[in-house]
Amino acid sequence: MKEKDAEKALPVHVGLIMDGNGRWAKRRGLPRSFGHKKGADTFTKAVEWFGNRGVKYLTVYAFSTENWKRPKEEIDGIMNLLDEYLDKADNNVEKNIKTVFIGDRERLDKNLQNKMRHLEEETSGCTGITAILAINYGGRDEIVRAVREIAKEAKYGKVNEITEEYIGNKLYTAGIPDPDVIARPSGEQRLSNFLLWQSAYSEFIFMDTLWPDFSEKDVDYILDEYAKRNRRFGAL
Ligand code: IPE
Ligand code: IPE
Ligand code: MG
Repeated sequence: MKEKDAEKALPVHVGLIMDGNGRWAKRRGLPRSFGHKKGADTFTKAVEWFGNRGVKYLTVYAFSTENWKRPKEEIDGIMNLLDEYLDKADNNVEKNIKTVFIGDRERLDKNLQNKMRHLEEETSGCTGITAILAINYGGRDEIVRAVREIAKEAKYGKVNEITEEYIGNKLYTAGIPDPDVIARPSGEQRLSNFLLWQSAYSEFIFMDTLWPDFSEKDVDYILDEYAKRNRRFGAL
């Protein structure tokens, strides 16, 4: 095992569905908002843990297009945590963390949108891990937007050939390699509309840990488990 470590396959891009905040709080008899708060702290640490292990891209699912169905109070709490994160995230420049956002920002508060754009600009030259936060993100919504844009281009005769690459470049993740592995804590075994197009050949890892309890041990579990997988992409 030890000799093999040197050549252990490392994912370039890890996707993480940060799930289980509510259940974590409930088990402690606390309001759900406490779970989201702890989950936000875990997120900040997780970016560094994956970055330190050499992962180049980490996409985290923070808020889905379906999460608007939750009570307003909970949504406001999550948006406040995002705001707090953005206020502290200036030190991502020192940490060399390139930070980008995917999802439909139009529905978010203007103030948040400005802070998001500011952070993206500030960290655009960073060369460490790229942290991609999916906020008001939905895989189907992303594909619908791409189709609309291509239809518009086609109307003006601007499209020669619609290829997989062409569609991929219309997605929020244009220029980012597909996730090699997608991990979901909390025990649920579904994608919940996360990276539908991009996950065509991703490895899936489901784990029982609730997101606020996610630790470096879980990072190692994901990387070790990924290294054991045999990816074939349809070939032999
Ligand atoms: C994930 O935790 C955070 C978001 C979806 C915003 P949940 O809030 O879904 O936690 P559970 O699944 O109810 O435990
Ligand atoms: C998925 O979790 C979305 C995020 C983690 C942001 P949900 O808790 O919303 O997913 P479902 O409803 O259990 O499928
Ligand atoms: Mg959930």
